[in-house]
Amino acid sequence: MSEIERVGVVGAGLMGSGIAEVNARAGRHVTVRETDESALEAGRARIDKSLQRAVRSGKLSEDDARQAQDRLSYTTELRALAESDFVVEAIVEQEAAKVDLFGQLDAVVDKPDAILASNTSSIPIMKLGMATNRAEHVVGVHFFNPVPVLPLVELVPSLLTDEKVVERTRSYVADTLNKTVIRSKDRAGFIVNALLVPYLLSAIRMFESGFASAEDIDHGMELGTAHPMGPLRLADLVGLDTIKSITESMYDEFKEPLYSAPPLLLRMVDAGLLGKKSGRGFYEYS
Ligand code: CAA
Ligand code: NAD
Repeated sequence: MSEIERVGVVGAGLMGSGIAEVNARAGRHVTVRETDESALEAGRARIDKSLQRAVRSGKLSEDDARQAQDRLSYTTELRALAESDFVVEAIVEQEAAKVDLFGQLDAVVDKPDAILASNTSSIPIMKLGMATNRAEHVVGVHFFNPVPVLPLVELVPSLLTDEKVVERTRSYVADTLNKTVIRSKDRAGFIVNALLVPYLLSAIRMFESGFASAEDIDHGMELGTAHPMGPLRLADLVGLDTIKSITESMYDEFKEPLYSAPPLLLRMVDAGLLGKKSGRGFYEYS
């Protein structure tokens, strides 16, 4: 089996930009694909800002940051991913969009042993594998936000993923990207979001009911349980549109009220109040 040298990342939003950055910092050639030039430019700016942040905090030398930048290329053409050994999909959390993209990736990625991975937060990997003619090469690799900082990746094989592909992915993510890997069965929400999302939704319901202020809910969990950020600030960091989509796939799978979206979350998404990325969610961001 060949080394993973060429990595494709599809989607350069909050997660795709972080995933591209950690792969480039690990010495891989990374091609980043976005839908249009302005989204591509926003992704490039996000990566450059994060690299500069790592330089400022002494985690990365200026020279290493420049070399990482030189290993990144940016495109709106999916065809540019043809020679990839490993593709990570990090587009919006919508099943129809991801199914469509996996069909296209199946058509353009030429290498027969290329791995087609998804960073989905919640959508079963089997649904993405079945959009291709190579489900045995499709696997979930779920990174955490912010990707350069958080050390975890959930590895999610579907029922049809080849065990050799699972092992090749595990060893790349653990040994090359230096992330701790946990393995989950292919159920909506996997391990972490099955636990985290009901907690975030409970905090939104508590706030919605008028029981406590956003600040007091967050301070309660930060200072009372040593979480680095409270649930409403964390929901803003993840993106309220993404949380809404995660609730849809988890509710669709389990039909459990604890996975259903509170009306306030739905109304905030309707209003375009998506959290930190849009400048306003439960808090305001400049
Ligand atoms: N990109 C790169 N680096 C970043 C960063 C970003 N967006 N945000 C923070 N950092 C780095 C900083 O440079 C800093 O590094 P140094 O220690 O080397 O200086 C370090 O992270 C700490 O940052 P700050 O001092 O600015 O701020 P902080 O101490 O408050 O930490 C945080 C910020 C890392 C976001 C921290 O609050 C945290 O870990 N919060 C919880 C995040 C979390 O739970 N994420 C998981 C979300 S769920 C998910 O991802 C799955 C899903 O499917 C939805
Ligand atoms: P985001 O909204 O920040 O970015 C999504 C990007 O995908 C946008 O820039 C959009 O232009 C782009 N896009 C949409 N369709 C595309 C296509 N066909 N080709 C190329 N680009 C396309 O979203 P995000 O927070 O980065 O989430 C991306 C994925 O990562 C989702 O599946 C999400 O569930 C998952 N995830 C998110 C988090 C989080 O905390 N936000 C954590 C882990 C996993």
